[in-house]
Amino acid sequence: MHSSLVRVQNVFGFFTTVAFTVAAVIALSTFIHPQSPSASVQLRNVQIVRGRPHYYSYKKEEYAHIKFDLDTDLNSLFNWNTKQVFLYLKAIYPSTKAGQPASEAIIWDAILASDSAPWHQNHYNHPVPKSKSKPKSKKSAKDKKAESPYPPGEIHLTNQRPKYQITDITGKLQNRTDVVLELGWNVQPWVGALVWTNKKTYGAWEGLQGGVSSSFDFPEVGKKMKDLETEKGKEGHRLEVGGEHPVRKGGRA
Ligand SMILES: *[C@@H]1O[C@H](CO)[C@@H](O)[C@H](O)[C@H]1NC(C)=O
Repeated sequence: MHSSLVRVQNVFGFFTTVAFTVAAVIALSTFIHPQSPSASVQLRNVQIVRGRPHYYSYKKEEYAHIKFDLDTDLNSLFNWNTKQVFLYLKAIYPSTKAGQPASEAIIWDAILASDSAPWHQNHYNHPVPKSKSKPKSKKSAKDKKAESPYPPGEIHLTNQRPKYQITDITGKLQNRTDVVLELGWNVQPWVGALVWTNKKTYGAWEGLQGGVSSSFDFPEVGKKMKDLETEKGKEGHRLEVGGEHPVRKGGRA
């Protein structure tokens, strides 16, 4: 009954109970942190091109290249328990077959890290607006986090290129009507459950204001334009879309 093993078991059992209780209290306490996220999304330009959207595409198909403006104030999503927010912009368009749900495809995304999260190469680095840019200095990648011109939940992008060019399962995208761009997120806490975009108000958490563009139509297939680059991101070291090897910005592959 009073062997050392029993003592160790009791102490460990007590420790796990305390740790679990503290974690649960932290996770639940975030519900009293008020949230009032807001965002505005606008279409800038959309082109439909027939071709190979990635170098490994084995067939030609129609793909959409969508440029947009995005302004967000998601700072209130960052509370004491927020590690990072995965933010994404979807294009949503009705299916060609009646009765089937609308198609959704992500055209751009970003991992917004809270100030308490340790630096990671895949974290989003907001581009510095031209008016604010300072003379370039050599800094290590770790200092770059501090260079972000805005708090973590704030984004101001103008004429932003997509990260992903989207295709449809039918291979055809031209002349689709009623397309919208919609912002969504997933809040990833230090402890507790992942929380997806909420549009309704729950207690202190207000739903997202805005975040959906006005509806637009895809044009007919156009010629491949010069300016059809995708955004590789300012993240220090990320996989190129469809690439098998990581590409370092401004460096050799
Ligand atoms: C798309 O719309 C254009 C302009 O209205 C029309 O000329 C073209 O035939 C349409 N293409 C298809 C595949 O419906």
